Amino acid sequence: MASVPTIRLNNGVEIPQLGFGVFQIKPADTAEATRTALETGYRHIDTAQMYGNEKEVGQAVRESGIDRGEVFVTSKLNNNRQERDDILRSFDQSLADLGFDYLDLFLIHWPLPAVSDYVKRWKVMEEIYASGRAKAVGVSNFQPAHLRNVFAASELTPAVNQIEVSPYLVQDEVRAFDADHEIVTEAWSPIARGKVADDPVIGGIAEKLGRTPAQVTLRWHIQRGDVVFPKSVNPGRIKENFELFDFELDQADMTAITALDRGERTGPNPDEFDYIPS
Ligand SMILES: NC(=O)c1ccc[n+]([C@@H]2O[C@H](COP(=O)([O-])OP(=O)(O)OC[C@H]3O[C@@H](n4cnc5c(N)ncnc54)[C@H](OP(=O)(O)O)[C@@H]3O)[C@@H](O)[C@H]2O)c1
Repeated sequence: MASVPTIRLNNGVEIPQLGFGVFQIKPADTAEATRTALETGYRHIDTAQMYGNEKEVGQAVRESGIDRGEVFVTSKLNNNRQERDDILRSFDQSLADLGFDYLDLFLIHWPLPAVSDYVKRWKVMEEIYASGRAKAVGVSNFQPAHLRNVFAASELTPAVNQIEVSPYLVQDEVRAFDADHEIVTEAWSPIARGKVADDPVIGGIAEKLGRTPAQVTLRWHIQRGDVVFPKSVNPGRIKENFELFDFELDQADMTAITALDRGERTGPNPDEFDYIPS
């Protein structure tokens, strides 16, 4: 089995470029799916307070027998945590639910520019990072304008920016901005929630290479240098999505997939999203 490459974050921490996402996996199914992912070889799990399944992710990691230091775990601050004390308490709760004494990466989940001061929240992320209980901190769904406001108020550059990226939303502007500022881009919904399976261009490349459309798309992300963590509850697809390191796309295939861009999101626009759970 070819091994998963790592990418060095701006503070020296290494992150596996391929991980396993658990958004929309019901708590009752999460431990089983995460266990399958760990058995397959994934060593990076992406969860969030909002997903409601941190307990089950932690349970699967702890019960796997794999050293905690071998598995990279990310969680994200829920949108309803705005004030310093509440943010610190929710971080403690994430650690308690996961059963860990540190997180590898903790992110602000959404900027919520219309309803909340994300710079103030970032200042609390600085404190969490300084405590050593998150090995790295970063943001998610931040546009360049939001990052500029963070830079103006903080010496600490986010280690990653987790944004929606797929062949239908290639995000070259935000990715270039991230790269210019030593921020690693993580691509969420990398296979556009399964939609790439029906794409004729991706399907043609997949057929030529004897791969599946999901594998071709995930390989495209890997060769662009982004971090990905496809979600699946299906053991066959969990394995399929891991088999990305024994083939390559040539420049013509890379260009053809990038040309599918149509600015189409599967999720909300970060400039407008203002959802705050009660
Ligand atoms: N920061 C954020 O705001 C944010 C937002 C969304 C997602 N994320 C993160 O990104 C991760 C991935 O994104 P996502 O879950 O939205 O979408 P995704 O990974 O692009 O797609 C998942 C969907 O595709 C299906 N699928 C998985 N593998 C497949 C394959 N090989 N062939 C065909 N279909 C396949 C899955 O169904 P089955 O389960 O039935 O296989 C599921 O319906 C999330 O789990 C989460 O960790 C972050």
